Amino acid sequence: MANKKKAASRSVAFPGDLHCGHVVGLTPPDWRLSCGTRASKEVKKIRRTQEEAWDKYKETCDKLKPDVAVWMGDLIDGRGERSGGTELITTDRREQAEIAAWCIVRMGAPRNILIRGTPYHSGASEQFEDLIPAMVFEICENEERPFMAVDGPHDHEQLDIGGVIFDVKHKVGASTIPHGSWTPIAREDLWQALYAEAGLMVRADWVVRAHTHTHIWGGRMAGDKAKEFVSTPALQCMGSRYGRQQSSKLVDWGVFAVRIEAGQVTPIRKYIQTIGAQASKPQVI
Ligand SMILES: [Fe+2]
Ligand SMILES: [Fe+2]
Repeated sequence: MANKKKAASRSVAFPGDLHCGHVVGLTPPDWRLSCGTRASKEVKKIRRTQEEAWDKYKETCDKLKPDVAVWMGDLIDGRGERSGGTELITTDRREQAEIAAWCIVRMGAPRNILIRGTPYHSGASEQFEDLIPAMVFEICENEERPFMAVDGPHDHEQLDIGGVIFDVKHKVGASTIPHGSWTPIAREDLWQALYAEAGLMVRADWVVRAHTHTHIWGGRMAGDKAKEFVSTPALQCMGSRYGRQQSSKLVDWGVFAVRIEAGQVTPIRKYIQTIGAQASKPQVI
């Protein structure tokens, strides 16, 4: 007889790396950069990027309507020490957590699981992402919206969704070469198998990580069982000073999701999109 749990169809979103509080982090209209006619070209570009990203995020929320959202960490940007806080909308990490809470409410998933991000962003001592569940509850109550369950934050969690085991954690190593990017998530899968062999976790079907702001995916067979591993795209756009000066990597923007039906997982990638406002043009001399 078919497992009842496996018969239900569910959509699961894995939004992550919002970096709320950073100028190119996910920014609801109330926190948008003010931009008068005298604003610099750079500020105008940031403003256009914020607008386009928020519009695309809203569209994603309305079309995807996930049953479950697994928030993959780096929901806030933190103190921004590397650039002296100059790239932040607000240095107040409580306010950054509030921005993230509004983003979660906008997604509107009835079930939410929070995964903590990198301590540089979420707080090395006090962890400010821990404030978010209570904030979501408060927003829903004040705005008279339907209750949204928010579980966590967790550092490393395993989720059984419709009979499929997901192993979720924020951090995975990054590669500086595009064709080497598969190795770190494949390594995560192998470590996960070793944890399961040691009896400390169950063997996952999917290993999901974030942090690199790139959507890489891979898989392999373990006997007759498919094992899949992914890193999720970011909801922070390109344009941080670190990115511009220190990195050559492309950022994948958007939300990775899956549909689970009768124990089968179908990846959904159409909500990973280009933010045109980020594009550069050559300077004409
Ligand atoms: Fe991040
Ligand atoms: Fe991170």
